[in-house]
Amino acid sequence: AIERTLSIIKPDAVAKNVIGKIYDRFESNGLKVIAARMKQLTRAEAEGFYAVHKERPFFNDLVNFMISGPVMVQALEGENAVLKNRELMGATDPKKADAGTIRADFADSIDANAVHGSDSLENAAIEIAYFFEAADLCSR
Ligand code: CMP
Repeated sequence: AIERTLSIIKPDAVAKNVIGKIYDRFESNGLKVIAARMKQLTRAEAEGFYAVHKERPFFNDLVNFMISGPVMVQALEGENAVLKNRELMGATDPKKADAGTIRADFADSIDANAVHGSDSLENAAIEIAYFFEAADLCSR
């Protein structure tokens, strides 16, 4: 089915100037960017976005990293978009990511891991709504 998912290009990948290379992975694999914005997250925005991880030991490092520079946030649309994006990203820890995935090619560590992608259709809807209004989504 045609799905939507939320993608974030994290501060490490924005700093490496590889937004376009990462967009090419999406576009070459059937995912369309239907909304996008570059944004410097506030601490409150990053904490809210990652609220499900609040009790995890890595939460503070994660939030500090996500506010260390601007991020590129996009809604992606396409067939099986949630899983497709996760396959393109590769494993959370770039050391474990398959060759040719975004994280294998552009990430440095489990924290500076280049991209975020929604892990389920349900979370995708919540995460897209966190950054975009319905009218921002240019489905096509
Ligand atoms: P992301 O998909 O953005 O969701 C939460 C992030 O926490 C994850 O990517 C990693 O960058 C970061 N993180 C740091 N340590 C861990 C860990 N041990 N397990 C999962 N995520 C971690």
